Amino acid sequence: MEEKGFTIWFTGLSGSGKTTISKLVEEELRRRGKKVEVLDGDVVRTNLSKGLGFSKEDRDINIRRIGFVCHLLSRNGVAALAAAISPYREIRAENRELIGDFVEVFCDCPLEVLVERDVKGLYKKALAGEIKNFTGVSDPYEEPEAAEVVCHTERETPQESAGKVIAKLEERGYLAPPGAEGVYSAEEEEKVRKRLEALGYM
Ligand code: ADX
Repeated sequence: MEEKGFTIWFTGLSGSGKTTISKLVEEELRRRGKKVEVLDGDVVRTNLSKGLGFSKEDRDINIRRIGFVCHLLSRNGVAALAAAISPYREIRAENRELIGDFVEVFCDCPLEVLVERDVKGLYKKALAGEIKNFTGVSDPYEEPEAAEVVCHTERETPQESAGKVIAKLEERGYLAPPGAEGVYSAEEEEKVRKRLEALGYM
């Protein structure tokens, strides 16, 4: 039977942990035998969305494109992971509607902490006015109101956050709990034993 696909949609400010957590979730899903594709904003903007900027219009196009690809993948049994700021609630809701099997993960981290970390050095530039329309500084970010998972990345380790996502997938029936397959009932075990015996293995 074809396994059910779904989309995990990571949203949050730049540097909030979307890429890091999505990579850990990707690894775990592969370990569990799922087919996985990751659509990361930074990567998508070098190919699928090459040439787009950061106006509301361009961000909306970017997010709709990512949503459309996630839709195609999800309906074919793939676990699609999107990791883009996706600052507008309405466009995220559109993707949720389109995809259906949609798990939203809000990577929540206070702006002060992001400015402090400033992994890519972009907040410093944005605060100095060198980058216009920078999300969280001089451009809007609309927080999710009902995300399936909220990761508080300033106080959770990436592993803890990824664990919360995996647990939600199990709870929603998108992922079998570990060890669920391969565990036989006593009756089934007896049948397997007899079969192996008949074949001369035992
Ligand atoms: S989104 O708004 O369209 O969802 P996306 O996730 O693809 O954004 O890209 C965000 C990344 O682009 C950031 O992590 C950062 O590296 C870079 N970036 C460059 N300019 C901006 C900007 N004005 N606002 C936010 N991110 C920017």
